[in-house]
Amino acid sequence: MDKNLSSKYMVCLVTSIILNILAIINVYVGDGWDLSWTKRAATEAEAVAAIYCSGHGRAYMDGLVLDGNLPVCECNSCYGGPDCSQFNPTCIADADGGDPYFLEPFWMQNAASSALVVAGWHRMGYTYHDKSFISAELERHIRKLHAIVGNAVTDGRRILFGAGSSQLLIAAVYALSPVNSSSPAARVVVSTPYYQLYKMQAEVFNSVEFKWAMVKDRAVYERMVQYMQINTMGVSRDSQLRTLKLLRVVLEREARDLFDFGYKTMSSRWETLSKTISMSKRFSLQEIRPENCTYFDRIREASPGYAWLKCERNEEKNCYRVLKAGNITGRAGKVFGAEDRYVRLSLLRSQDDFDVMLHHLNKLVLEEGGSKTM
Ligand SMILES: *[C@@H]1O[C@H](CO)[C@@H](O)[C@H](O)[C@H]1NC(C)=O
Ligand SMILES: *[C@@H]1O[C@H](CO)[C@@H](O)[C@H](O)[C@H]1NC(C)=O
Ligand SMILES: *[C@@H]1O[C@H](CO)[C@@H](O)[C@H](O)[C@H]1NC(C)=O
Repeated sequence: MDKNLSSKYMVCLVTSIILNILAIINVYVGDGWDLSWTKRAATEAEAVAAIYCSGHGRAYMDGLVLDGNLPVCECNSCYGGPDCSQFNPTCIADADGGDPYFLEPFWMQNAASSALVVAGWHRMGYTYHDKSFISAELERHIRKLHAIVGNAVTDGRRILFGAGSSQLLIAAVYALSPVNSSSPAARVVVSTPYYQLYKMQAEVFNSVEFKWAMVKDRAVYERMVQYMQINTMGVSRDSQLRTLKLLRVVLEREARDLFDFGYKTMSSRWETLSKTISMSKRFSLQEIRPENCTYFDRIREASPGYAWLKCERNEEKNCYRVLKAGNITGRAGKVFGAEDRYVRLSLLRSQDDFDVMLHHLNKLVLEEGGSKTM
């Protein structure tokens, strides 16, 4: 009898211990952190991300809501319809500027590690805890990235953030201009160069919202900071938070994943484009030899972001117009101080933009063959 009772107690004890262990595992290890206030936001974010746009568009949390309560698909160029499934083969291919959409597949592959929850009360003050306008943690990550890539000296230099490079460039102009505003040099600084900076910003960096600059001279740095404080009180705290989150993903495995992705995407585009142009007598591309890449530390084939195209026919002196007639918008050579016989085509865009451009180029090249046999 005694034995029976004690074994019953034993069973109870063991069961209780097991249940406790299971509960602990569930709380600390399982995917069951009992989320409270982020659950709704996460559900919302995933519901919007799951909206089907045929792979040729995307719905965003802050997109237009027409009927129902979900935002509509925003279609890539040349695609239309409610789910972006209608392709318009005669539309204009935009190969003018570059944009970061070519990296979109990378971020979708890293959806879980790059997603961010921002609390409504995230950093409501004007400064960080150390009274600065920039996140010290973000600065640390930026230095780490440069150290890995090896493309900038960061030791002994101060880092300044800006909402796009034009803000940084204007801050630099402000910092370098004479202190005496009555001197004629200052007037020049605020007129012509301003326009040129603006132009440069519009042309080169038109879609980058977060940039940083390395500044060596302390006095220049201080004046740039002063400008940024007057101008926008630094960069939005939300932008800094998001940049930090994305940089953490980039820095995993010494940034291999991102740079592998970038290299593969761009080199395959270059190869495809080169193949098409090699069949043409009307157009040619600049030759780019393989080079020793300091990051990968080996010789690699070219993977340029832009193609420099030449119209070879004597009578076709304006290559921009030739392409325009074929529904491709490039950027005329004269913008870069070259002849108009050249056009720059941007390869740094979404896959759809690239595919449409290639579609139109193929058509032009095929027509060449046709007209020769006629
Ligand atoms: C170019 O665009 C125009 C206007 O959209 C269209 O009518 C024409 O068919 C297009 N041409 C080509 C070759 O796609
Ligand atoms: C500004 O100009 C005045 C006279 O033109 C001069 O006395 C003063 O030193 C200048 N200040 C600086 C900082 O250059
Ligand atoms: C490429 O450059 C690195 C230094 O940046 C050097 O160590 C390496 O030997 C070079 N590789 C080739 C194949 O030239």
